[in-house]
Amino acid sequence: MVSSRRAFFMRDNKATLTYGNNSWDFDVQSGSMGPDVLNISSLYAQTGMFTYDPGFTSTASCESKITFIDGNEGTLLYRGYPIEQLAENGDFLETCYLLLYGELPTQAQKDDFVNRVTYHTMIHEQMLRFLPGFRRDAHPMAVMCGMVGALSAFYHDSTDISDPHQRMVASLRMIAKMPTIAAMAYKYHIGQPFVYPRNDLDYAANFLHMCFSVPCEEYKVNPVLARAMDRIFILHADHEQNASTSTVRLAGSSGANPFACIAAGIACLWGPAHGGANEAALTMLSEIGSVDKIPEYIARAKDKNDPFRLMGFGHRVYKNYDPRARIMQKTCHEVLAELGIKDDPLLDVALELEKIALSDDYFVSKKLYPNIDFYSGITLRALGFPTTMFTVLFSLARTVGWIAQWKEMVEDPSQKIGRPRQLYTGASSRDYLPIGQRR
Ligand code: SDX
Repeated sequence: MVSSRRAFFMRDNKATLTYGNNSWDFDVQSGSMGPDVLNISSLYAQTGMFTYDPGFTSTASCESKITFIDGNEGTLLYRGYPIEQLAENGDFLETCYLLLYGELPTQAQKDDFVNRVTYHTMIHEQMLRFLPGFRRDAHPMAVMCGMVGALSAFYHDSTDISDPHQRMVASLRMIAKMPTIAAMAYKYHIGQPFVYPRNDLDYAANFLHMCFSVPCEEYKVNPVLARAMDRIFILHADHEQNASTSTVRLAGSSGANPFACIAAGIACLWGPAHGGANEAALTMLSEIGSVDKIPEYIARAKDKNDPFRLMGFGHRVYKNYDPRARIMQKTCHEVLAELGIKDDPLLDVALELEKIALSDDYFVSKKLYPNIDFYSGITLRALGFPTTMFTVLFSLARTVGWIAQWKEMVEDPSQKIGRPRQLYTGASSRDYLPIGQRR
């Protein structure tokens, strides 16, 4: 209970902060869905105080119309459409159109969009020269950071962020070229020749072809696996103001070009607490190895003195089951069935781990549920990807979300450079001491 000296009272869209003998009013704003917000943009000017919110657990950084999440209900909407319906009925490029333009496309709009993406999938041939500069065993995410940032060294005609046409061209280029760059990073990693994109294949099939075909024989894309890949892209496309999207927005707020902003997002996504969790989750399942070792790891996850966490579990926003995890689990079963993989020991461990964790009071009380990363690793491994490629695939899919959020931020007339403040607890002002007088 906040003491009466310092309290927020809310009435008719106003909240009053009382501190000592002073009171200040702040606007309360409502969105179309979700929590109201307290507009504190004038707090420092009015009170001389900052808010303090490490990790931004209670902070809305922007207004957005793109994605809505209700963490308690386990709801995820892209432009108002439930993720379950988009994953079941749509495809990834339709989802890209929806995220970018705000509406589902007509057939003519979709055909035009698919055509524009298809004819931007090649990258400047000189970009291939960057790859030999990397060690073969470089993590593919390091290659992605370098290659995507380098796009701004080639596509100067789409870096003027004040030009709406250039913003859309850059958006299309990013969506179109990420699969090509990701596949090249993979081929370089495994020492195989690059495979150029093909205009007769759809987005996901083209990506699988660029990753898994070799010059020595014909590669036929399995349509069931291509559909699963496409659905995995849809699930990862956007997710409100997560860490990497916030990174892209902050980088973009300085006026940086879109390619540099996306490279910043890739760097942030790499972390194991964020997009790196799919790689970490599969590594964890492999380390657990068998169902009988699960109790030992559950105990470690609960032990405050042990830094171990169940990777693929828990979420800053979802305090219910991540709706994407359910679809991911279903897709996992479809892929394993299509490949004739009857008993995947890691899937057995994952299913048993989930069952035990969801009945354990520690996880129940902290509302820790499987998130999208829990089942994605098993699925991606079955599709033929090494764990080092898992976060690359996440970054490929999330590019459309990053670029849609970046465009929304650039086009927001109220946007300004992001510049948070701090609670300073360092040394007070003091005079320089000559070295001979220091102890
Ligand atoms: C993604 O934000 C997004 O939208 C991200 C994402 C997207 O699409 O962009 O959804 C993608 O990043 C999914 C999350 C992937 N990360 C992981 O799976 C890594 C494992 N999970 C945790 O590191 C953690 O759950 C986070 C980082 C995801 C969320 O951390 P929070 O919200 O800061 O919560 P917290 O760390 O404060 O944990 C709350 C409590 C703590 O215990 P107490 O200090 O209260 O006693 O829950 C515990 C934590 O110790 N806890 C876990 C746990 N996650 C949290 N304990 C064991 N295992 C876990 N996985």
